[in-house]
Amino acid sequence: MPKWNYRTIDYDTIDKSALTENDFLFTLVTIASFIEITSDIYEKNLVTYYEGDETLTGWLTNVWEPEEIQHGKALRKYVTTVWPHFDWDGAYAKFREAYGALCTIDEFQPTRGREMLARMVVETGTATFYKALSRYAESLEEPILMQIANHISKDEVYHYDMFEEGFVRYNEEERLSRADIMKVIYARLKEASDEDIAIAFKNISPGRSREAFQKDVKKFAKRYYPYNMSVKMLLKPLKLNHYVEKATASTVEKALQVLGI
Ligand SMILES: [Fe+2]
Ligand SMILES: [Fe+2]
Repeated sequence: MPKWNYRTIDYDTIDKSALTENDFLFTLVTIASFIEITSDIYEKNLVTYYEGDETLTGWLTNVWEPEEIQHGKALRKYVTTVWPHFDWDGAYAKFREAYGALCTIDEFQPTRGREMLARMVVETGTATFYKALSRYAESLEEPILMQIANHISKDEVYHYDMFEEGFVRYNEEERLSRADIMKVIYARLKEASDEDIAIAFKNISPGRSREAFQKDVKKFAKRYYPYNMSVKMLLKPLKLNHYVEKATASTVEKALQVLGI
């Protein structure tokens, strides 16, 4: 059972008038809702990939997937509450058709340990994104979105911890070097930047320029993205000592900015 329940959130108290014109917020939250609610496809692929590892597959099915789906439902309800004229179901159906076809095991890492690392990168991305979203909501004086984003961010940190446990377990055999670990992290970061967001954007705002949205995302990241948190999470599997970590952190932070994260 998820640790919180989106049904207990007071969506009725949202001051919609202050938000309906905020196109950027609409796009951001809708994209997130689409991606989260599609986690069932990932769950199936991961369970196939880790077949035989009952600790992990049991957790994926009974905990991870229900939590991710709840993220999607909580955000969907937010979108349909604040922007009731948007055809969420129609747009999502198109997104799912296009995006679902791309979610295959072929894009997984070649070993189980490496794939655990890739999952840690993904959870870092979501944990930090929702942290940024919560800060943005705070700046908009929107307590309900803040509450939702905080709940989700905490879940994503917990997912990261669980995938880290899996990584440590598999790495006892795989014994990846720091260079190997860096390669996987970097490759996954680069890959994370686009596909799903591009497809979601096309189905949410057909005919609108994605460039303008990207510009707003950059501004949003600059103001609200928790770079420190992101760098700490990304570097953790390297087990650097304190001094090396400090020296490496600023390089990684710059790299994240170059990658547009
Ligand atoms: Fe999520
Ligand atoms: Fe997650």
